Amino acid sequence: MKIVMEQKKDSKPLTKQSNIEKENKPVALNIKKLNIYYGDNHAVKDVSFSIEKNAVTALIGPSGCGKSTFLRSINRMNDLIPGARSTGGIIYEDVNLIGDDINVVALRKEIGMVFQKPNPFPKSIYNNITHALKFNGIRSKKKLDVIVEESLRKAALWDEVKDRLHESALSLSGGQQQRLCIARTLAMKPSILLLDEPASALDPISNAKIEDLIMELKKEYTIIIVTHNMHQASRISDKTAFFLNGVLVEFDQTDKIFTNPSKKDTEDYITGRFG
Ligand SMILES: Nc1ncnc2c1ncn2[C@@H]1O[C@H](COP(=O)(O)OP(=O)(O)O)[C@@H](O)[C@H]1O
Ligand SMILES: [Mg+2]
Repeated sequence: MKIVMEQKKDSKPLTKQSNIEKENKPVALNIKKLNIYYGDNHAVKDVSFSIEKNAVTALIGPSGCGKSTFLRSINRMNDLIPGARSTGGIIYEDVNLIGDDINVVALRKEIGMVFQKPNPFPKSIYNNITHALKFNGIRSKKKLDVIVEESLRKAALWDEVKDRLHESALSLSGGQQQRLCIARTLAMKPSILLLDEPASALDPISNAKIEDLIMELKKEYTIIIVTHNMHQASRISDKTAFFLNGVLVEFDQTDKIFTNPSKKDTEDYITGRFG
């Protein structure tokens, strides 16, 4: 898929990929000196780190510290907010995603997002998945059937809905609706999934199902999840980034962050002293 609208002739590769060498692990996104503003509010401050491929990266930190802002900037959802602007780099496959030449529609297929509150369309389960596919020109019923089943299976929802595909998505439980939203995103064949507190509005059993699903999905996708649930972050993530007032205070292996953080602020946060 082409996310750059028009390749500039003299464009140079933007990545140095130094972290690949350091950690010997493939990198999905390289964040370089990223700053995000809403008017005068400097919401994300000079953030640099890299996000590993096929791993779960958790973003933690007190409310208002910039987690959602950072997450939304990755697939340019911040473009929709008047007054929002960014500088720096979010490098994905040698392309700076915050550049002017990005086809954001293509980008959002490649990097899909799921929000805190399940937001299925008021359509059938089947049509929730096929809506965007049809919009993208896939008309064959056979093809659509295959993608619907595949996406629902990947989202661990198929067995629960296979006999009611033409019922309204709104008849599903909250947890099922959220897995449907994940299935809908997977149908676009993304490589990265952005999840903004995807389980925080759900009951504990649905929450556990989403966690199991994330563990399964990371084999195939790169996952970045915002969570305010410390236990969830420590259970499901490989890497954890701790934000405070828009600053990336600490980024490390999740085990390290939760057992032996390097910074006092991180320790205070994970032990519940603030936030
Ligand atoms: N749509 C918006 N318009 C203006 N300011 C916003 C918007 N969303 C967030 N902010 C501001 O950006 C900062 C970070 O917020 P946010 O990214 O939502 O934090 P978090 O997800 O960590 O709770 C806050 O100061 C917040 O007020
Ligand atoms: Mg948020």
